[in-house]
Amino acid sequence: MELLADAFDGEPSPFGPRGLLVLRARPSRHFARDALVCEQGLKPLHVGLEAEGREVHAALPDDLGGFPAAAVCLTRSRAENRANLDRAWARTVEGGRLLVAGAKTDGIESLQKALRKAGLEVEATPRRHGRVLSLIRTGEPPAIFAEWREEAAAAPRVEAMGRRFVTAAGVFSWDRVDPGSALLAEALPELKGAVADLGAGWGYLSAKILESAEVVSLDLVEAERVSLDCAQANLDDPRARFHWADVRAMPLARASHDTVVANPPFHDGREVSLALGTAFLEAGARLLKPSGRLWVVANRTLPYERVLERAFVEWSEVGGDRTYKLLCGARPRPPAGRPRTGR
Ligand SMILES: C[S@@+](CC[C@H](N)C(=O)[O-])C[C@H]1O[C@@H](n2cnc3c(N)ncnc32)[C@H](O)[C@@H]1O
Repeated sequence: MELLADAFDGEPSPFGPRGLLVLRARPSRHFARDALVCEQGLKPLHVGLEAEGREVHAALPDDLGGFPAAAVCLTRSRAENRANLDRAWARTVEGGRLLVAGAKTDGIESLQKALRKAGLEVEATPRRHGRVLSLIRTGEPPAIFAEWREEAAAAPRVEAMGRRFVTAAGVFSWDRVDPGSALLAEALPELKGAVADLGAGWGYLSAKILESAEVVSLDLVEAERVSLDCAQANLDDPRARFHWADVRAMPLARASHDTVVANPPFHDGREVSLALGTAFLEAGARLLKPSGRLWVVANRTLPYERVLERAFVEWSEVGGDRTYKLLCGARPRPPAGRPRTGR
């Protein structure tokens, strides 16, 4: 958003009220509150945009009409970025302006090349560590856009457990089962009772959990809307409950679950973040009944043992390989000032 704002030299409402559609928008103090219509499916950013008083959609409704301008803020998913460009084109009026803002690390240069190769006249303005691309939307979209759309769309893609799981661009590990999650799935004992899968993604671990007939309910908590939609398409089971939520603003009651399972993210946006993974483990401990257990897979380099030591009376490494470790916490410590009962 900073790059995009720079491209307008700080003009807070470059296309008038509701004039600029922004896909993958982020909170920004540079734009006037009513200047943007935003799409953002990642819950914490969505909430941040709402807090700024903006019009924000998790997924754009069909009936918004054409915009004088549309911008795509790049994410780390090349396929999602390309598909968003096609969507931005479709939502812009004839003769309107299309913008793409992204860092070099998000692949802005290769996108620029691909657009020029597709025959579009693209103006590029270098800004900070990235650039802003600008073009006029006129006539039919280049033929390559249809391929980009198809490549990114939700579709049965990942072969696992004797079936095909639906994934889409922008979803974690969208073309294969994550090897860390596969290790955790193999190590899980036969689960029972109320279970939660934190950061459930497209639902691989959840599908494994639901194989046990003794699981009574499974809460999937996932911040990325597209991922949760894929999980919903993949899990046709009345025991599954789907929560579009940030684990740091946990929608589920304390001390309510027998087991919590997680393959926590170690990136917050572009940045490597130990804080987010730590929040997952702490949220897991809070969710558990006194007799409950947390099962986690993590990259060996991540020092989660310290977090488990703080949050659980007992914890141990229960397996893994050279890249991943499997950790299990038992007897969650009561929150400070609250004695636990019923152990
Ligand atoms: C390492 S992936 C694991 C996904 C899935 N469990 C699997 O095994 O394939 C972590 C997941 O956490 C989600 N996530 C990231 N930040 C989150 C947050 N603050 N709250 C809830 N989920 C989050 C990501 O979208 C991603 O799907």
